[in-house]
Amino acid sequence: MPGPFSQKEIVLGVTGSIAAYKACDIASRLVEAGANVIPVLTRSAQEFVGPVSFEAITGNHAITALFERLQNPEIEHIAVARRAHLFLIAPASANILAKAAHGIADDWLSTTLLATRAPILFAPAMNTQMYLHPATQANIEILRARGCSFAGPASGTLACGEVGPGRLIETSAILEAAGVLLSEQKDLAGKRVLITSGATHEPLDPVRFLGNRSSGKMGRALALEALRRGADVTVVSGPAQAPLPHAAEVVRVKTALDMLEAVQSRVDTVDVFIAAAAVADYRVDAPAPSKHKHTGASLQLTLSPNPDIAAWVGQHKRPGQVSVGFAAETDDLLNHAGAKLAAKNLDLIVANSVGGAHCAFGADSVLAWLLTPGNPPEPLDLISKEDLTQRIFDKVALLLQS
Ligand code: CTP
Repeated sequence: MPGPFSQKEIVLGVTGSIAAYKACDIASRLVEAGANVIPVLTRSAQEFVGPVSFEAITGNHAITALFERLQNPEIEHIAVARRAHLFLIAPASANILAKAAHGIADDWLSTTLLATRAPILFAPAMNTQMYLHPATQANIEILRARGCSFAGPASGTLACGEVGPGRLIETSAILEAAGVLLSEQKDLAGKRVLITSGATHEPLDPVRFLGNRSSGKMGRALALEALRRGADVTVVSGPAQAPLPHAAEVVRVKTALDMLEAVQSRVDTVDVFIAAAAVADYRVDAPAPSKHKHTGASLQLTLSPNPDIAAWVGQHKRPGQVSVGFAAETDDLLNHAGAKLAAKNLDLIVANSVGGAHCAFGADSVLAWLLTPGNPPEPLDLISKEDLTQRIFDKVALLLQS
């Protein structure tokens, strides 16, 4: 299935910053995702990086001067301003923010920013004091009020040795934000989506726990797709490796009991609840207050069942609210999934086979079916987690209308 970058023309504006070299990675990831990238290097950017790298990565001429248009009508700034689907300025210096905020047009990039109606995304990178300066902050406010978007900056140690906000945010976060802006399908605009994700860790003692191998990739993919479609997204996440989208509200929890509490206090206000977490079925009755010692003797643990979060939501669902669950099964997949659909009062269950070669934990693709009450299972075959999330939200959008 085509993603949000497929066949999209993106102007990548690179401005003067020590982080300019990172724009090569951004360009390369955009090209990989199917975008046609037009690189633009300001004069200061060219002090840090050269056009040749960008030309090799994108296959397009890198624009370096305003008056190139005389030789090359393809990159004439008004033509590009009209054609582009997105302007991504990464890294964005204090100077380009100031020029864009005040309508100064003195080079190709600033001139074209004035001429475009495409969404504009800035990924700022600069010295912390420059970023925090009231002039820069005021410029950012002006640009936000005008509808421009921002990804980052991140905080950390900067090239100048200072510690604070000003680092170019990581490429994946820039791509996430760009994907949200490029996505044309906004059928979840105004909807609130709550997702549980990751594993739960049930403590045995202060340093050990019972857990599972959930990567959190499905929760991440679901959150991204819901954001792209215009929803407000909250993720209640147990421990997991996959990073969650910056635009989502993230509530971190460790145990099933914490996850239940976090869901109970938020679910009333949402339109869609998706249980994607691999919740531990049991917790240790009385976790030891200090570390278990290795005595060589056998150790007996008493486990108590954890509450079923999806079932709790099913019991307390408002009319019109849609709840979605997952069933990862090794055998008798459709029967087990159908039973869970009914027992948890779900509107949709995604059944995936975790037997043999098709282990869903940590994998990028799953063998899946969609089940809704009273309808035959819909097979999706082997599908990537990204494509699966599109199919899930297609169904959720229909369920919200019914
Ligand atoms: N789930 C939940 N809370 C639990 C257990 C499961 O919210 N305590 C949700 C999962 O997020 C998933 C669905 O219920 O959406 C099914 O989870 P799964 O672990 O497959 O099923 P269980 O009901 O725990 O049944 P079993 O482990 O016996 O297969």
